[in-house]
Amino acid sequence: MTKPVRKAVVPVAGLGTRFLPATKALPKEMLTVVDRPVVQYCVDEAFEAGIEHIIFVTGRGKGLIEDHFDYQFELDATLRQRGKVPVADQLDAQTPGAGQISFTRQQRPLGLGHAVWCARDIVGDEPFAVLLPDMVMDGKPGCLKQMIDAYDEVGGNIIAVQETLPELTHKYGIVETGAEKGKAFEITGMVEKPAQGTAPSNLYINGRYILQPKIMDLLSSQSTGAGGEIQLTDSMLAMMETDPFYGVSFDGRTYDCGSKFGFLEANIMLALKNDDVRDEVSELIKSLDL
Ligand code: UTP
Repeated sequence: MTKPVRKAVVPVAGLGTRFLPATKALPKEMLTVVDRPVVQYCVDEAFEAGIEHIIFVTGRGKGLIEDHFDYQFELDATLRQRGKVPVADQLDAQTPGAGQISFTRQQRPLGLGHAVWCARDIVGDEPFAVLLPDMVMDGKPGCLKQMIDAYDEVGGNIIAVQETLPELTHKYGIVETGAEKGKAFEITGMVEKPAQGTAPSNLYINGRYILQPKIMDLLSSQSTGAGGEIQLTDSMLAMMETDPFYGVSFDGRTYDCGSKFGFLEANIMLALKNDDVRDEVSELIKSLDL
């Protein structure tokens, strides 16, 4: 019997250098896509998938994230006094309940693998999800729910992937695929940013993982890899030699909001799905004489 995935780690301790100067004082995870900060998309996705506890790995200057997921007493009281009860109720529904959220610190941004390892004591001895908040997913159901449905069938470790064009594979982490298994397929290898024409597939790793707790032991003893950082990929590759890894091809769309283009793309595409602004944005796009 596979143990259920109850906890999710959301690393938010990175410096966000690609978005300077916007991110000099503002956490990049608080940049807004349409009407929600980027980080809220992944928290909503996690709760939709049945996650019971979110563990944020934060760093200096990330206090706004903590405030965002807190109950704002004055705001709530004022909205209700002014008759804006549905807005207050919606904010309430999106706020994690008592004990459903933890924060731990990564004192130095030593890499994604190190950030995940910082959550080891709170994760404990159970499988857990990792969601990179930069990657905003648009799918029904959400990406993590699709992965958990596959996990319930096959167990093990799961990496979400999304198809890309062959000419773009050199920008991403690409998986090597094996046999299909239910809603998933075996992953037999991974390569970071393969040189043009050498990618083992067109499937890139899009920032959602389900991992067994053993990964924490591997991360403990792992030395630094590419970019002088402790990479999650290196520990996953080591674990792949002995433990099953499966891929789930995300039925939906991934926006890389850690890059300027991906962030702007997410704003345009998700605005076209938002009832408040869809018509105006669509008119604006039609009126552009490019
Ligand atoms: P990125 O490498 O995309 O984030 O990491 P970054 O370093 O903040 O961005 P740039 O490249 O300087 O613009 C993906 C996720 O992992 C977190 C980041 O906060 C982001 O959510 N991360 C990365 C950490 O928590 N700690 C780290 O040491 C590195």
